[in-house]
Amino acid sequence: MKIASVVLAAGQGVRMKTQLPKVLHPLVGKPMVLYVLDTMRALECEPTILVIGHGAAQVRATLSNFPMPHLQFVEQREQLGTGHAVLQARAALQGKADAVLVCYADMPLVRAETLQQLIQRHQTTGATITMLTLIADDSMAFGRIVRDAEQRVVGIVEERDATPEQLAIRELNGGIYCFDAEWLWEHLTQLQPNARNGEYYLTDLVELAARTSRRIEAIVSRDANEMLGINTRVQLAQAEKVMRERINTAQMLAGVTLIDPATTYIEPDVQIGMDTVIEPNTHLRGKTRIGANCRIGPNTIIRDSEVGDDCVILASDITESRIADHVRIGPFARIRAGTVLARAVYIGNFGEVKNSSVGEGTHIGHFSYVGDAELGARVNIGAGTITCNYDGKHKHRTVIHDDVFIGSDTMLIAPVTIGARARTGAGAVVNKDVPPDSLAVGVPARVIRKLAHRG
Ligand code: UD1
Ligand code: CA
Repeated sequence: MKIASVVLAAGQGVRMKTQLPKVLHPLVGKPMVLYVLDTMRALECEPTILVIGHGAAQVRATLSNFPMPHLQFVEQREQLGTGHAVLQARAALQGKADAVLVCYADMPLVRAETLQQLIQRHQTTGATITMLTLIADDSMAFGRIVRDAEQRVVGIVEERDATPEQLAIRELNGGIYCFDAEWLWEHLTQLQPNARNGEYYLTDLVELAARTSRRIEAIVSRDANEMLGINTRVQLAQAEKVMRERINTAQMLAGVTLIDPATTYIEPDVQIGMDTVIEPNTHLRGKTRIGANCRIGPNTIIRDSEVGDDCVILASDITESRIADHVRIGPFARIRAGTVLARAVYIGNFGEVKNSSVGEGTHIGHFSYVGDAELGARVNIGAGTITCNYDGKHKHRTVIHDDVFIGSDTMLIAPVTIGARARTGAGAVVNKDVPPDSLAVGVPARVIRKLAHRG
């Protein structure tokens, strides 16, 4: 059976009180709409139609690089209700699938397995509508499921339209359905506007199907978390907590130790190797990949970076960098974009490295700025060393070859190159290249002697 899907995302999200389209609000670092789209991709729903309206241009722009070839956008110019929203997808979908899965972009916690179950039930029963319902004490303002004496679903009534008896019903409409495609397209146009607010309710299709004795199936869930819809920032924070717990649980089950999951913030696309320990108040963001057997944190933020195996990173901030195995960083280091650290590099307290490559075994122990530089292997950068890379207009490069010893508080006025095995004296201000195997001292630095070859 071929399943297409429609994801509704046209609503304004008035209760968010926001300029940003609601579905672009980040949930654990990622726009919330991406969660449902990821799920649609996992289920291979093709095509998937995203119905957009409020902030349509911004939503399109945000999704322009989303790798989902079967994603199409359809605009609902006026938000006339969920039935009207689904109808907008008809032209794109009619004749292209046997069943249509409908869900909302503001319900990011629905699991792929649950939807898979829904699709399965739909296929095996041949139902006209298969829906997801929830039994919960807190109604969350959801529609109520009305069943007849034989327990067959015969309708859905919205909270605002419900009688007192209907309000007491504990079975709620999750808002997720699988429809027989042909029946859906034929009957959507028969919806009548709601008498109170003029909206076309998708939910009215259930009564329509029941009246004509079509088969309606319901999968009943008791997991209110999964069905949490985000309408306010309070619900956004609730969803954030649930999603974060899911991610942390999956990491732990895959062999990562989280000392305190409650204060560990791992975004959904982060990968972590086995036996790595994540200490409290650590934030791993974006497309970060951490190797095996590392110790990360406490108090560390790593964004869009790769970290090798057996690394120790303490109380540091790392962005868009590549870090090899056995590297030690921190406490209080800042590794900025474009940095590549080779194996066994050590960056100590208050070291800042930007757009630089640092060779194997090199040490930058204390209070240094290394920017736009290329450092060889086994270099020692003395405390307080600065690459003066910016002349007020342009950035210049500093090149330091293997086995160099830079004395404490050296200023390297770029562009400048320090040859292999050279040394600078403490406080040197180096504004000319230093040849290999020589010692340069003073302000400005001069070569005062050649150094014996150190074996
Ligand atoms: C809907 C259901 C309700 C269910 C609840 C579950 C209807 C009439 N009611 O109510 O039974 O319990 O979801 O969450 O369907 N949207 C559009 N275009 C529109 C209207 C809505 O794209 O014209 C989108 C919204 O952006 C939102 C979703 O559809 O993502 C749901 O709309 P909303 O108005 O929030 O419906 P509910 O009142 O929550
Ligand atoms: Ca809603």
